[in-house]
Amino acid sequence: MKEVHNFTIIQRIEHGERYFALVLAHGGTLQSPAPGQFVEALVEDCPGVMLRRPISVHDADPQAGTLTLMVQIVGRGTRKLATLREGDRLNLVYPLGHGFTTEGCKKPLLVGGGAGIAPLLLLAKTLQANEVQPTVLLGGRTAELIPARDAFASLCTLHTATDDGSLGHRGLVVEHPVFNDSYDMIYACGPTPMMKAVARSAAQRGVECEVSLENVMACGVGACLCCVTDTDHGHRCVCKDGPVFNIKNMRRWYEQ
Ligand SMILES: Cc1cc2nc3c(=O)[nH]c(=O)nc-3n(C[C@H](O)[C@H](O)[C@H](O)COP(=O)(O)OP(=O)(O)OC[C@H]3O[C@@H](n4cnc5c(N)ncnc54)[C@H](O)[C@@H]3O)c2cc1C
Ligand code: FES
Repeated sequence: MKEVHNFTIIQRIEHGERYFALVLAHGGTLQSPAPGQFVEALVEDCPGVMLRRPISVHDADPQAGTLTLMVQIVGRGTRKLATLREGDRLNLVYPLGHGFTTEGCKKPLLVGGGAGIAPLLLLAKTLQANEVQPTVLLGGRTAELIPARDAFASLCTLHTATDDGSLGHRGLVVEHPVFNDSYDMIYACGPTPMMKAVARSAAQRGVECEVSLENVMACGVGACLCCVTDTDHGHRCVCKDGPVFNIKNMRRWYEQ
């Protein structure tokens, strides 16, 4: 059930110049989010920013009552969120959307890039709680643009790919040697060209694959239709029917 709460920022974590994370609590019981679900964050006192901004749940600890968001600074709204400090308030609608399917897989690969790295931490933790050991492959233009590496590395085997070779394999994530190992599930979140390349390869190899789309959103609850994506079954709202989609219904999307 969707809830609206004023959360308090209890910790702020810096991830270089482009990313930061906020650990939040609202003082009450926290619904346990599925990995891949997101919040709509209210950006207060920011001229020109009327709509809430969708941000994935990066981590959650329902027992401690905390939720963590990791944000990439790209425009006015996220720049304003970047000014928040410990003790400040952030109003969230939560939890939204359908998350990743975590039951049934035994050998998953998690592929992330950019802000799409955010939801993969809770996904990796959830898989581990199910006694499944994931392989994680993160990409970025440079090492600096691959945030939260320590958190992933402390949990599981982490591989990286950078355009400039400053970390890990030089090149794209789909060119990394571990990408072509055998898996029974590939989860991807990141820039659209990256996710489409992952989806095409998974389809060719006959590997189950889920992608988490980051279309620009407005209402976040399926009312305004501004976030629709093309699927094999017609247009679907990314906010309500996704953001996670199984690629078996997405040939029209990944072949475009
Ligand atoms: C389901 C979902 C989950 C998301 N999770 C995260 C997350 O965990 N962390 C995070 O940092 N970001 C996440 N995003 C992206 C985030 O919502 C946008 O970066 C943010 O709304 C931009 O707001 P802004 O006001 O700073 O930028 P704006 O001023 O609105 O735009 C600045 C630039 O960013 C582009 N942009 C805006 N929104 C998006 C978008 N959704 N995708 C790609 N480009 C965009 C605009 O076209 C423009 O070029 C997610 C998006 C979705 C839909
Ligand atoms: S954002 Fe309004 S329908 Fe998805």
